[in-house]
Amino acid sequence: MEQKSTKPFAKIIKRILEYRQSGTVLDAGTGEGAHALFLAAQGFHVTALDTISENFQKIEEEAATQGLKIKTVMGDVLELDKLGAQFDIVICTSVLHFLTTDEIPLAVQQLKTATRERGINVVSAHTIKNEGEVRAHLFEEGELQKYYTDWKMLYEWEGLGGPFETKTGELIQRHRTELVAEKI
Ligand SMILES: C[S@@+](CC[C@H](N)C(=O)[O-])C[C@H]1O[C@@H](n2cnc3c(N)ncnc32)[C@H](O)[C@@H]1O
Repeated sequence: MEQKSTKPFAKIIKRILEYRQSGTVLDAGTGEGAHALFLAAQGFHVTALDTISENFQKIEEEAATQGLKIKTVMGDVLELDKLGAQFDIVICTSVLHFLTTDEIPLAVQQLKTATRERGINVVSAHTIKNEGEVRAHLFEEGELQKYYTDWKMLYEWEGLGGPFETKTGELIQRHRTELVAEKI
């Protein structure tokens, strides 16, 4: 039986190792930093970014406990150009559905601009198939992929993801759209 995590962990993150084994990572919208910690433990140089800094101390302490280093940065996925840096891998999982429909093109443009040539984007978000779910933007089938027609698509998937355990102990599943694409 598959192990259930109490911290949200997207399977797509482990998929990164099929494409890249080293380099710099920007985890845009890091949340509790589970992905940032996992990738730092694999030897990647990770910057964990979020609009809210409430988890930063916990992430840094956990990194130190594991003998890892993670740079935490307060920032907005809509303003990644302010970082003045590009990364080999830019991750943005379970973040874009919190942005409004008007903000999505800019957000994806920022993810792409923050990525080096031959770098990859790893993106996932919820879709309109989640009946009754209220989010600022839920993705139509194929919508996310359309932003990456000028990149090489390495992996794409849409379906029912999870189950994840919520903070209240409830097991939930969500329809998701996911992709890994390479900047060419
Ligand atoms: C559901 S959590 C996802 C965390 C993690 N990426 C994951 O996949 O488990 C959403 C995170 O996105 C952050 N977030 C929302 N809007 C953001 C924005 N415009 N820029 C950066 N982070 C944002 C929230 O603060 C929150 O930590």
